[in-house]
Amino acid sequence: MIRSIRLGLAFCLSMASLALLPPASTSALAAEASARSMELPAPDKTGGMPLMQALAQRRSTKSGFNGAPLPAQQLSDLLWAAWGVNREDGRRTAPSAMNKQEVQVFVALDNGVWRYEPRHSLTMVLEGDWRAKLGGGSLVLLYAAPTASRWSGMHVGSIYQNVGLFCASAGLGGFVHASNSSALDGTLPLPEGWSVLIVQSVGSLKK
Ligand SMILES: Cc1cc2nc3c(=O)[nH]c(=O)nc-3n(C[C@H](O)[C@H](O)[C@H](O)COP(=O)(O)O)c2cc1C
Repeated sequence: MIRSIRLGLAFCLSMASLALLPPASTSALAAEASARSMELPAPDKTGGMPLMQALAQRRSTKSGFNGAPLPAQQLSDLLWAAWGVNREDGRRTAPSAMNKQEVQVFVALDNGVWRYEPRHSLTMVLEGDWRAKLGGGSLVLLYAAPTASRWSGMHVGSIYQNVGLFCASAGLGGFVHASNSSALDGTLPLPEGWSVLIVQSVGSLKK
């Protein structure tokens, strides 16, 4: 008798504690499980503005973003321009010392921070909307590399210039900023000795 009362009490307590869980956390976990990786559409490697015009248009735009997410195709094209594989041997749109490719590009979207993979897909590394903490924009790119390497700044600079030219060509705004680069320190899964060196906000602009 006493045993069955104890069991009943334990059951009630466990149901009560379940009821205390916010419903959002369950749905967030379900979303997390199904959205851990995301295929991107194949990049469109045709078209765009002639290079000399893009160079003439390249500039930092620090305000006037309308906050709208980029269409999937434009996100795909932007990431490929940044650090995509552009040859069959796996080399990239930006050069790297001894082709070691010691840079990881992350993109903060409205639903999380994602790592851009060489096979042109995204892997979620952090849930939530971190864009405002990272300086704002439709998205924010984070460039991580070995902190102490003499090459890291050069590598990252090549990549953000690719993005700057892509933005000029696509009529997007954006700017590079060091000020928010430590906002996610300790939360990204980086190799030992790596850090985010700089971030780059990108956004479509108010008409
Ligand atoms: C390495 C680097 C760090 C930067 N850091 C910041 C920053 O922390 N905040 C900011 O508002 N702009 C930052 N900028 C953007 C510069 O202010 C901008 O590039 C400069 O004014 C020249 O303007 P332009 O890019 O339109 O030619 C940075 C640019 C670079 C290349």
